[in-house]
Amino acid sequence: MNDHMPDDLSAAGRDLRAYTDELRPRHPVVRNARGEYVLLRHADVLAAALDHERFSSQVSRYLQVPNGLDGEEHTHFREVIERHLSPEALTPFVPVFKQVAAELAKELPRGVVLDAVNDIGAVFAVRAQCAWLGWPTELEPQLLAWMKQNHAATRSGDPDRTAEVAAQFDEIIRSVIQPRLAAGYKAPDDLTTRLCHETVNGRQLSEPEVVSILRNWTGGDLGSIALCVGVLLAHIAQQPGLADRIRTAPNDEVEAIIDEVLRLDDPFVSNRRVTTCPVHIGGQDIPSGARVKLNWTSANRDEAVFGNNEFNPEGSAAKNLVYGAGKHVCPGRLLATWELRIALQTLLASVQSIELVPGQAPEREVAPVGGYHRVPVVLT
Ligand code: HEM
Repeated sequence: MNDHMPDDLSAAGRDLRAYTDELRPRHPVVRNARGEYVLLRHADVLAAALDHERFSSQVSRYLQVPNGLDGEEHTHFREVIERHLSPEALTPFVPVFKQVAAELAKELPRGVVLDAVNDIGAVFAVRAQCAWLGWPTELEPQLLAWMKQNHAATRSGDPDRTAEVAAQFDEIIRSVIQPRLAAGYKAPDDLTTRLCHETVNGRQLSEPEVVSILRNWTGGDLGSIALCVGVLLAHIAQQPGLADRIRTAPNDEVEAIIDEVLRLDDPFVSNRRVTTCPVHIGGQDIPSGARVKLNWTSANRDEAVFGNNEFNPEGSAAKNLVYGAGKHVCPGRLLATWELRIALQTLLASVQSIELVPGQAPEREVAPVGGYHRVPVVLT
């Protein structure tokens, strides 16, 4: 370890984006209060994400399909998942997401203060995911309440609390899959039923595997979509001209704009790895079996790659790490991008303006969560 590496660093209570901006120019690798090595630079985060031999994804004692798997086992499960997240599989859901967004845009009251994260982002995320998976709309309040608890547990940094909230989520998932398994051919023809009957290596997925996949698709990602909507609406409300550009640009340009806003302000902070042998990275020697964090938020703002971090959708695209890199790169990228684009286009088409509230600045989240806690806006 190099003398200049801050040790036992606690980011508690800090805005992680500002904090890592401060640290990164002097410290490529920092150790947090849990003893994890946090990689802050783009080159190191990318190198670790691409090095599946020395940086293992088996970081949890819980089954995590596919994110906690390595090697061939990961590849087999990944194939199952990609089948459901391809352009062909997702195209039929475009009108569904448009309808969800249009209904929400119609419901949202005008002229009153709304929170873009919870009142808009979270509600859209839950409804879009339920529609995609074929889950009943009655689950909406339960899922919204769960998202709040999950967020609070993540914020607390207490692993027992996080495990408890994860167990509650597994219960919700079982309540959806068990009737489908019991109903046999009478089960509804939806994505959740199709997943229950998926096979890997010639055998049907086990119930814990289905639960784990669905937990991954929903549990983590509902929160990410909500945070992304918060970040996007905060930027739209603060950047004159951005709303009009999104209203008139073709879809691929809108998607590039979304990626660039999220690069500059990435609410999906980090993923973990564990070293399988001693490694030297970012000028540091890290022992075998060490816990390492790939900090996407920091890597995405590395001045060595993105200069002075000007808003430059075309110029930054090739280096953007919002959806990760390597074998574990986000398979839900297309789904997330389409959901976010449709939500923004639909909302902007139905309002004249989205404005911040004087005297109520957006409140940033604090470590270990990224993005905003609350973004007060008024729709007119
Ligand atoms: C707004 C959105 C999202 C962001 C920023 C995001 C970001 C990421 C990132 C950075 C990774 C890499 C993890 C790693 O290297 O360890 C990842 C993995 C993953 N994401 Fe996403 N994601 C988003 C939405 C989604 C959605 C909507 C789904 C599916 C419904 C999804 C499913 C997954 C899965 C299954 C993995 C694990 C892949 C593997 O281990 O092979 N994500 N995501």
